[in-house]
Amino acid sequence: PTALAGRHFLKELDFTADEFRGLIELAAELKAAKKAGAETRYLEGRNIALVFEKTSTRTRCAFEVAAADQGAHTTYLDPAGSQIGHKESVKDTARVLGRMFDAIEYRGSGQAVVEELAAHAGVPVYNGLTDEWHPTQMLADVLTMTEHSDKPLTGIAFAYLGDARSNMGNSYLVTGALLGMDVRIVAPERLWPDGAVVEAARRLARTSGARITLTEDVKEGVRGADFVATDVWVSMGEPKEVWDERIALLGPYAVTMDVLRATGNDDVKFLHCLPAFHDLGTAVGREIHERHGLAELEVTDEVFESAHSVVFDEAENRMHTIKAILVATLA
Ligand code: CP
Ligand code: NVA
Repeated sequence: PTALAGRHFLKELDFTADEFRGLIELAAELKAAKKAGAETRYLEGRNIALVFEKTSTRTRCAFEVAAADQGAHTTYLDPAGSQIGHKESVKDTARVLGRMFDAIEYRGSGQAVVEELAAHAGVPVYNGLTDEWHPTQMLADVLTMTEHSDKPLTGIAFAYLGDARSNMGNSYLVTGALLGMDVRIVAPERLWPDGAVVEAARRLARTSGARITLTEDVKEGVRGADFVATDVWVSMGEPKEVWDERIALLGPYAVTMDVLRATGNDDVKFLHCLPAFHDLGTAVGREIHERHGLAELEVTDEVFESAHSVVFDEAENRMHTIKAILVATLA
């Protein structure tokens, strides 16, 4: 058993820097073993429930492939196909699933729901994204940063541009603070993380030595950055009506080639958790395009398709890092 055996994975704030780094190291080992065709199956015969109250491509697939690679079985409960929340309470669902499964993944809206599941399940519960946090994504992003930088984590600077009053904004700020990184949140002040999240990050930074910047100034925010990251301007579960306001507020924070140049770093890398509106050819994108006449939103197609972009390494790393969580908590 590892030091994290039996633990939940609900938010970054629940972990020490050593624990978080340990998961990244384990993910790198599991990734190398898989690539070498030498993976050991630590989870033979385990059963994992995957509860999704919001849609997903990467997170669901990452859990399913990671579990299968390790010999575990998954059951997927889709946003409409279970009783949770509407016909059966979260507490009862937790106790039922906890009797059948060795672990439960949950994606939904309120962080309180995943915390309640964890309180009553009796087995490890993993947060596959809530409105407040996206902690499994942070493992993938940090692994990707270590792969694309020669610096130790404490020497890496990253800037997150866009809607920072969101799961990704909160998670980037707190993760960077935990790991002693140089974190810049670059957004209009109205879209900075909530004061309590900023306070928690500042507290962590006092021990980790992290540098924390919240700024409205794009040039200042990205100067010297090793990585520039962004996310959609409107998250799952938010009403369509907020697009108007977000586009007006966040236009200047789109990641363009000029923004990458403003880092002063020719080797700067671009991150995005995906899905991304770098072209508006999808169904949702076409609606936005018709209403606003824009062709791209939080990142230009030029940046997305450039050699700076490491978004598909980042997407692949969702699987290796989620596998590390499963192995660390269940093996
Ligand atoms: N990045 C991410 O969580 O993607 P999905 O919504 O597709 O799971
Ligand atoms: N902030 C986005 C992340 C998607 C992976 C959302 O919550 O929709």
